Amino acid sequence: MPAGGELNGKVAIITGGSRGIGRSMSLAIAAAGAQVVVASRTENEPPPDSPFIKYGSGTINDTARQIAEAGGEALPVPCDVTKTEDLRNLVERTIKHFGRIDIVVSNAGVDCESPVAELDEALLDRAINVNIRGPILLCKYVLPAMFEQKGGGSIFCITSGASLGYREGRVGYSMSKAALDRAYLSLAEEVREHNIAVNVLSPGRVDTWMNRNGDWPGTAHIPMEQPGSIDAAAVWLAAQKASTFTGQRVERADFGITWGPGIPMPTA
Ligand SMILES: NC(=O)c1ccc[n+]([C@@H]2O[C@H](COP(=O)([O-])OP(=O)(O)OC[C@H]3O[C@@H](n4cnc5c(N)ncnc54)[C@H](OP(=O)(O)O)[C@@H]3O)[C@@H](O)[C@H]2O)c1
Repeated sequence: MPAGGELNGKVAIITGGSRGIGRSMSLAIAAAGAQVVVASRTENEPPPDSPFIKYGSGTINDTARQIAEAGGEALPVPCDVTKTEDLRNLVERTIKHFGRIDIVVSNAGVDCESPVAELDEALLDRAINVNIRGPILLCKYVLPAMFEQKGGGSIFCITSGASLGYREGRVGYSMSKAALDRAYLSLAEEVREHNIAVNVLSPGRVDTWMNRNGDWPGTAHIPMEQPGSIDAAAVWLAAQKASTFTGQRVERADFGITWGPGIPMPTA
């Protein structure tokens, strides 16, 4: 790993690391020196005739391979964040392989695109399970190890602009991200005494499978960014502790302008 990398010696878990924003953050956090556990469901490539193959392709093994090729260290762990046994296994394998957990990025997420009058209940349940329940249970299972280490750490989730405002046909998604925001901002207070930072990062509109698949009506006015646009903000957040930056919901586009290196943390 690069000498002097700002995350040298740290271990990071990143959910949804198989593609899109999660894959980009996995590569960036590894390039900054952390050992990275890449967690999501997909271990094998989909067939070449899959729809949206360019955006859908991506596996935890492939992300881990890319990290290794760049000189970093990664462990791919299959994990469905809706399953308790998978989350427990993720934490156990991380501790067994790398010995500690310093950084947790709860990025795995799914859409819930449907007018309420036509809502498929299974779609709503899935959004609640992946976007809210999974991120809270992930913290439930990583926190005891992080407390025991006594060195602080950083947890953050990936939210959406939809948590703050109306998005056509996406009531369920907006609700799930608003709940996620509140959960993580409250958790920030709960774990402050352990010097663990908990923050919420909104990435903007990013060119990924999720975005292309849904085509998100009403968002065309928001500039489309590539996944790498989030990397610098993610690496900086990963390096924080409660003593330096916590309890904040931040926009990627404002990184280095209203928050980030050298900018004082806002007080409540
Ligand atoms: N793209 C945007 O414009 C945008 C804007 C705002 C917020 N976001 C948020 O950014 C995050 C990443 O989204 P993306 O745009 O990169 O979408 P994406 O390309 O669809 O990636 C989603 C990731 O989540 C994983 N995932 C889905 N269900 C999972 C489950 N049950 N267990 C574990 N992993 C699961 C997927 O991996 P597997 O399929 O391998 O499990 C994949 O790695 C999401 O939380 C999303 O809501 C995206």
